[in-house]
Amino acid sequence: MPSSDLAPVYRYHDGTKHHFHRFARSAGALDWASQPNPFRSFEAAPDVALYPRPDAPAIKDARTPLTAAPIGDVLRHSLGLSAWKQFRESRWSLRVNPSSGNLHPTEAYVVAGPLTVDGGARLSAERAAGVYHYAADRHALERRAAFDAAAWSGAVADPAIWLVALTSIHWREAWKYGERAFRYCQHDMGHAVAAVRIAAAMAGWRARILPDWSHRDIASLTGLDRDEDFVDAEREEPGTVLVVSREPVVVSRELLLAAVREGQWCGHANQLSDDHVQWTVIDEIAEATRDGGRSVSPSPPISPIPPISPIQLPNPPITQLPDRALVLQRRSAVSFDPRSSIDASSFFAMLSRVMPGDLPPWDALWWKARVHLALFVHRVNGITPGLYLLARDPAAVDRLKAACGRAFLWERASETLPLFLLAAGNCRPLAQRLSCDQDIAADGFFSLGMIADFDASLELFGPAFYRQLFWESGVIGQVLYLEAEAAGARGTGIGCFYDDPVHDVLGLTGHVFQSLYHFTIGMPVEDTRLTTEPGYAWETESTLRKQM
Ligand SMILES: Cc1cc2nc3c(=O)[nH]c(=O)nc-3n(C[C@H](O)[C@H](O)[C@H](O)COP(=O)(O)O)c2cc1C
Repeated sequence: MPSSDLAPVYRYHDGTKHHFHRFARSAGALDWASQPNPFRSFEAAPDVALYPRPDAPAIKDARTPLTAAPIGDVLRHSLGLSAWKQFRESRWSLRVNPSSGNLHPTEAYVVAGPLTVDGGARLSAERAAGVYHYAADRHALERRAAFDAAAWSGAVADPAIWLVALTSIHWREAWKYGERAFRYCQHDMGHAVAAVRIAAAMAGWRARILPDWSHRDIASLTGLDRDEDFVDAEREEPGTVLVVSREPVVVSRELLLAAVREGQWCGHANQLSDDHVQWTVIDEIAEATRDGGRSVSPSPPISPIPPISPIQLPNPPITQLPDRALVLQRRSAVSFDPRSSIDASSFFAMLSRVMPGDLPPWDALWWKARVHLALFVHRVNGITPGLYLLARDPAAVDRLKAACGRAFLWERASETLPLFLLAAGNCRPLAQRLSCDQDIAADGFFSLGMIADFDASLELFGPAFYRQLFWESGVIGQVLYLEAEAAGARGTGIGCFYDDPVHDVLGLTGHVFQSLYHFTIGMPVEDTRLTTEPGYAWETESTLRKQM
């Protein structure tokens, strides 16, 4: 029996499962009139154009003091727009980070010392530290608060560091997906954490989650708790905060929060929809999983990333990291060629990249791997098609074996990876059926379910960790997306799957392990009816040529 504070988590989780005979509750037909605006903005908050926008203030020195350039670089390659698509009258943007239904519930805030810029720009004169909202549509920071620069230096050991706080607007996802939307917001949060960590690494920075910050602290830091700034506007739920730094660094939560509270705040959040449906179940699970903050020791190992100037090298040759072009080209496939295949070496390379370690993005997380992969292998050259299991924490193998109540083979399928063949055979129809009958789960080279160590993780870390289990799945998904692109293929996250039928296939009972997210990788078939433009008008070739 779960402890009583976990009961709401189990109730929500079970209540939002998709069943063969019934989907989780949602509005049914979409109310297009109330479709949420994908872009939050804060009216009356001053804008700071970000590098590499051509009108961004020129960079004086790429390292010290902190300029807005590294922030622009990291945000552009993690949460910025990557394309605009058009079909007939409809035009929509896509981002570097993926999102269930392209609804993008995740908002980002930056907290930094004075953003020193060349040429007497407004902010350099004020020498103020600030709290900023990231406006992805304009690739700009909206300054929500200005606070004492000396207080910033007092709160952080190195004033050139900066923080990224991530929040969720539940309504954006709930508009389409109803009660299951909270799960998708958490997946998206995990994707965003990984995207920020990877972009920071490409720019030579570290980024890691600060577990001691409670949700209440994050709300104060970002101004989410300022009722007067959200009149009529949809509220945001605190998610997590990451510190971005060159070297491991200590941030004094108390001092920083005190300084921010004393700051001068401005701006009012825009209203995203005229009309709303109240999904009280989402409010309840958000409340039940609020994090009071935790001290985590010992701290996870920190990867030795060589310090590289963020500006001079557009694509720093850091091994094992994607480059900027790759993160910008990441896309979800909407359909796959059902005949093409991939080599075993590429398949194993992808799997080894999702194994945890002290490299980005895994070093952003403070917990040990708790999510394993059940793989449906369809067409990998040299690999027997069938059902496989990758134990991302080898120490979990015995518990996985004990939990899977079927007579599986458990044959080692790799000398180096904890990968096991459970059963050989064509599992394309099975994979498709389990992933809400979506063809992409059958037509790729392989698809998979992410199996979380559920009961034990919640017992150990408490109800707030329900969110982290999804975040870990999102991080895995982000790595798989980029690995697929690097291999000349494409991936797609799959949030729609029939929960308990997946468990039945593995013989899992109870909640010891639960499937939280699916994914598929294959050779994409492009939709040639769509036209594509770059994420920002200033990135069109003619604009770039004019600047040269
Ligand atoms: C958590 C999550 C769940 C998703 N679920 C599905 C799904 O069930 N089926 C699907 O075709 N695409 C799914 N996607 C892909 C999104 O539709 C896609 O990310 C979004 O349309 C944006 O497109 P992009 O990834 O090309 O930027 C999912 C993506 C995420 C992040």
